Amino acid sequence: MLLNIDDFKKKARKRVPKLFFEYADSGSWTQSTYRENEADFEKLKFVPRVLVDMANRTLETNIIGQKFSMPVGLAPVGMTGMQHADGEILAAQAAEEFGIPFTLSTMSICSLEAVAEKTSRPFWFQLYVMRDRKFVEALIERAKAVNCSALVLTLDLQILGQRHKDIRNGLSAPPKFNMKHIWQVGSRPLWCLQMLATKNRSFGNIIGHATGISDMSSLSSWTTQQFDPSLSWEDVTWIKKRWGGPLILKGIMDKGDALKAAKTGADAIIVSNHGGRQLDGAPSSISVLPEIVDSVGKHIEVHLDSGVRSGQDILRAKALGATATYIGRPYIYGLGVAGKKGVTKVLEILRNELDITMAHCGKRDINEVNRSILYGGSL
Ligand code: FNR
Repeated sequence: MLLNIDDFKKKARKRVPKLFFEYADSGSWTQSTYRENEADFEKLKFVPRVLVDMANRTLETNIIGQKFSMPVGLAPVGMTGMQHADGEILAAQAAEEFGIPFTLSTMSICSLEAVAEKTSRPFWFQLYVMRDRKFVEALIERAKAVNCSALVLTLDLQILGQRHKDIRNGLSAPPKFNMKHIWQVGSRPLWCLQMLATKNRSFGNIIGHATGISDMSSLSSWTTQQFDPSLSWEDVTWIKKRWGGPLILKGIMDKGDALKAAKTGADAIIVSNHGGRQLDGAPSSISVLPEIVDSVGKHIEVHLDSGVRSGQDILRAKALGATATYIGRPYIYGLGVAGKKGVTKVLEILRNELDITMAHCGKRDINEVNRSILYGGSL
């Protein structure tokens, strides 16, 4: 039975080839930050409230001025289309039907245009800044052309964190298959059949768009060289101007950085340690949320990701001041288990857990949730 996110994780392990499942289920180095992201949520206890009228509850939320059915969005995840054929399209469709934001990664398998063609509402686009600024400009123009309604600029991956599982699995970008991989892939026949039936099997936003990249082998060296370690706050200002629409800065973990981010005039920041995939040894994102909200919350919307595994976690983040939270791995596991249906089921589970917990805490409207629902008020 699939009753919680852990059930989906266990089942996804059986459905998705090992190298791609472990690509999702991994943090950098010792994975201490990956583990703490989840563990620290559980330390936050709720205060049960009784005899409060709990009829007519609502989870509807405004995120950067856009209305959504609950304060949750799908985080950008590279190579989603390797968890399930056409993964980005299916996840975007599930999010659209649910009335929540979907964020397409720069490193997606399905391209901006392919996702736009199969969805009817605007989605968000996540940008990695590459050394090739002409390519970055063109990506921004393509996101505008397909009507993306927010740009999520990721600030914490100019230097790639080392993930031991990926190294052990020989996973490169793009994947280069050896005998071990062929065995892993061959032992997942349904995954293979679905993958054979789609054209979307490489990095759709890059192949045929970046200069000199026409095939998989030229793409491999391009991706390793292109993340720009010299990215600066001036670049953020340049991107904001170039984009001209709602801008969200992803990957802030420090009060000082949050203050700088607020000064750029961006619409929101995401408190995130990239799901424990970058700086191992960094604190969990939920543990730094209160101090960041206290320092910039009056000037800019503060959102959070990393470690959200239940509707209860969404409520905990909301109580500590996050306007929105995002999930990465939970929907990736849903997708691996059953494509679009799996993502929808994951979202239903989260919504149900969020709604029931909110009611038990004596709140009817998600927008009224604050630190008073937490025992002791914080971590
Ligand atoms: C990511 N994340 C990510 N972030 C981003 O800005 N661009 C990207 O391409 C990716 N790719 C990616 C791949 C995989 C497999 C994972 C698990 C994560 C980070 C992601 O957006 C988000 O910050 C985390 O996934 C949140 O943590 P949880 O929900 O997975 O614990």
